[in-house]
Amino acid sequence: MKKRVAVLRGDGIGKEVTDAATAVLDSIGRRFHHEFEWVNGLLGGEAVDKAGQPLPEETIKICEESDAILLGAVGGPAWDNHPSHLRPERGLLQIRKHFELSVNLRPVQAFKSLLAVSPLKEEVAEGVDMMIVRELTGGLYFGEPSFHDNEKAVDTLVYAREEIERVVIHAFELAKQRRNKVTSVDKANVLESSKLWRKIVEEVAENYPEVEYEHMLVDAAAMKLITYPAAFDVVVTENMFGDILSDEASVITGSLGMLPSASLRADGFGMYEPIHGSAPDIAGQNIANPIGAILSAAMMLRSSFGMEQEASAVEKAVKSVLEDGYCTNEFKNIGRKVLSTREMTEKIINEIECELIAD
Ligand code: NAD
Ligand code: IPM
Ligand code: MN
Repeated sequence: MKKRVAVLRGDGIGKEVTDAATAVLDSIGRRFHHEFEWVNGLLGGEAVDKAGQPLPEETIKICEESDAILLGAVGGPAWDNHPSHLRPERGLLQIRKHFELSVNLRPVQAFKSLLAVSPLKEEVAEGVDMMIVRELTGGLYFGEPSFHDNEKAVDTLVYAREEIERVVIHAFELAKQRRNKVTSVDKANVLESSKLWRKIVEEVAENYPEVEYEHMLVDAAAMKLITYPAAFDVVVTENMFGDILSDEASVITGSLGMLPSASLRADGFGMYEPIHGSAPDIAGQNIANPIGAILSAAMMLRSSFGMEQEASAVEKAVKSVLEDGYCTNEFKNIGRKVLSTREMTEKIINEIECELIAD
């Protein structure tokens, strides 16, 4: 199969981890006889510097002409004091909105081989396997008015029925393929938008009698994620809560650098990116963990291209390298074998190509 992928490496470690993901997919191409055509586009801070805006028209065109989008991360101190419309993060929000990528899937799985390095006790982290379904194109991130001056600041949290319905339905559909449980997270004791959210969850749930569901307030959910994370199956929530809870949940796996994500449009078109940012503190040092980006590429194979076997091959290779005791720099001082970004990528590619010899 031939697939054309828009590659938006972005800023900081975004570039390093995206290079890792495309190298791994090239090895999948060799093993399974696919051809991936990578087309680079500018996004974020580099786009501001080179094209005067965080999401140039040219990048939109490249993405429109591609079968999927692979993204690194954007942002960094160089652009932190830019006006809102010239911030790298604005480009990310614009691309999500432009392509109507309203459902963001953030799977959180505890790798057995990393249980000992989770900040949680082994017995608490063991067996964690949840899917955070984050609404991605509404809520506080996009509501108008939104402004600040010296005396006043306004953000608007607005949700239309249709925006809530589509993400909640997606969550219930996913639960049917998993363990039949949905936890809907809101702040219905305070927020009007959460009251509508809760009502819609109850309506949707009527069509899924086999799926057990519960409502949970976001503050309690933040606590439960740490005390009893294995109890969660599918978690569905609005944009900002999903952003915060997914960073929190990522550390159950040992590192923010491990977590992949898929942002999907209703027709299945998708953008794939690790959940972490551009990590300016470690950028350019070849020490970033590329696994979140590599697992995002695996999600792309599965969701956008229907390549189940190929996606599993990537996931199996990652698992096997971790089981061999290898890790990246954030796990140093815990008796594991520390690899650079490129060495980790090579190890994963070797695993994939070993199987090629075995096939
Ligand atoms: P961050 O996710 O970039 O980093 C948080 C911490 O986690 C840092 O200590 C970093 O070194 C570490 N970390 C992150 N990814 C890692 C990896 N793959 N391997 C090893 N360690 C990793 O968050 P931040 O520092 O709050 O934000 C930095 C910039 O990134 C900001 O400009 C922010 O807006 C942006 N950001 C972008 C995205 C995105 O593009 N999707 C996501 C989050 C933050
Ligand atoms: C993420 C990031 C973004 C978000 C920022 C950079 C706009 O934190 O993808 O999780 O908040 O959605
Ligand atoms: Mn985030």
